[in-house]
Amino acid sequence: MGKVGLGLAVGCAVATCAIAAVMVARRVRSRRRWGRVVRELKELEEVCSTSVGRLRQVVDAMAVEMHAGLASEGGSKLKMLLTFVDNLPNGSEEGTYYALDLGATNFRVLRVQLGGKRSTVIEHDVDRHPIPQYLMTSRSEELFDFIVSSLLQYIERGEDSELSSSKRREIGFTFSFPVKQTSVSSGILIKWTKEFAIEDMVGRDVSECLQEAMSKRGLNVRVAALINDTVGTLALGHYHDEDTVAAVIIGKGTNACYLEQTDAIIKCQGLLTNSGGMVVNMEWGNFWSSHLPRTSYDIDLDEDSPNPNDQGFEKMISGMYLGEIVRRVILKMSQELDIVGPVSSKLSVPFILRTRLMAAMHEDDTPDLSEVARLLKDILEIPDVPLKVRKLIVKVCDVVTRRAARLAAAGIVGILKKIGRDGSGGITSGRSHSKMRRTVVAIEGSLYTRYSMFREYLNEAITEILGEDISQHVILKVTEDGSGIGPALVAAAHSAPVVDSVQ
Ligand code: BGC
Repeated sequence: MGKVGLGLAVGCAVATCAIAAVMVARRVRSRRRWGRVVRELKELEEVCSTSVGRLRQVVDAMAVEMHAGLASEGGSKLKMLLTFVDNLPNGSEEGTYYALDLGATNFRVLRVQLGGKRSTVIEHDVDRHPIPQYLMTSRSEELFDFIVSSLLQYIERGEDSELSSSKRREIGFTFSFPVKQTSVSSGILIKWTKEFAIEDMVGRDVSECLQEAMSKRGLNVRVAALINDTVGTLALGHYHDEDTVAAVIIGKGTNACYLEQTDAIIKCQGLLTNSGGMVVNMEWGNFWSSHLPRTSYDIDLDEDSPNPNDQGFEKMISGMYLGEIVRRVILKMSQELDIVGPVSSKLSVPFILRTRLMAAMHEDDTPDLSEVARLLKDILEIPDVPLKVRKLIVKVCDVVTRRAARLAAAGIVGILKKIGRDGSGGITSGRSHSKMRRTVVAIEGSLYTRYSMFREYLNEAITEILGEDISQHVILKVTEDGSGIGPALVAAAHSAPVVDSVQ
């Protein structure tokens, strides 16, 4: 071998060594980085942990806050709003009723026929209108004009002579936001939640706004019932099963209501009802306790939200926020630990990862997590994510969802504790129940009904908290469209039918 040949061979060997050294260094770096990713995930899991001990602390805090909210106005972050619904339907209600439903993405006009026997509710979801995004933050007049136009469209199609005739008609309105009721048919909007933020509406009477908009368009219709969606769900639950004592919604927003004894509503002394009870709308989305397992992602989400320090429980539990929490975790891991290559600009868009998509990733049961890969590519524009990273993302979804479902379970047991149905005799003296009675909680909302992992975690946590013996007496019963059928039932249970009976 000549000198040149030798030089070349040495050069090649040096280059090969250098390349090998770079590759080894890269692999070491990547291993270290992955180690940090795993540590970060562990930390997230730890902070989000909801041991049964911690859940019991949340249960107690919920029951204590319920007492405080009932004791005085502003006594707790739980508003514990009176609904003036003192009489729940028992299945004998009959007639044809109309209802409007405003609460999330769609506005609906409905007609409900009650046949006087439990099983004969016939509901016609006559019209469903997606609410344009701009209307959610516009002016109240615009929103109510939209509502009334939708109602008119239905009437103009001439499908229902009852409502279009010149005779004065009555309607039930489900308005799923915190309202300080002044009667069963009127109330003042305290604040907006979810995506709505129409400033001029806060402090105004909701029924009056609707009434004005209807009069402007020449509609002779009176609002006969104004209710929260949880109250509609409780009414429907009770219509089918008289052991129903509470209702919970876990959808875009979350909330609960339950039947309380009037003498426990201390802030409203002298409150008299025929039944001795009244449904209380808890507005539990605003519940807060230092026992809630809060992460830096929750704190940042709250600070960036239009309502900081508000709706803390809702921000950890409901469909509006779960996907967003997961997006924040993936973003941070991508920025700091480079888990998915260059950070896509889509990953920085707030709320781009809807909870329903997050749930689809979580429940992907393909062996190679191909659905996760597809959603990451289509929604977040992150292609070619390695399998181990896809698994990591599924784990993040699991941690966030499990925490949410278990906290919701603690909330439910908190209500049971308050009314002495948790098997412990309650925290109110004089309410001891040695024998546990059958106790039904009506439940609705897409997180519970359509997200099976969420549902399983919630059910499992109820059993863990209450124990097998007690939990077998507690039944979570899914109702079908309490916000649509509920206002008709409430009106029927309280007075004459919302509109004339058609029989
Ligand atoms: C609202 C409640 C409502 C719940 C479920 C929350 O954001 O404040 O009034 O019941 O969402 O729709």
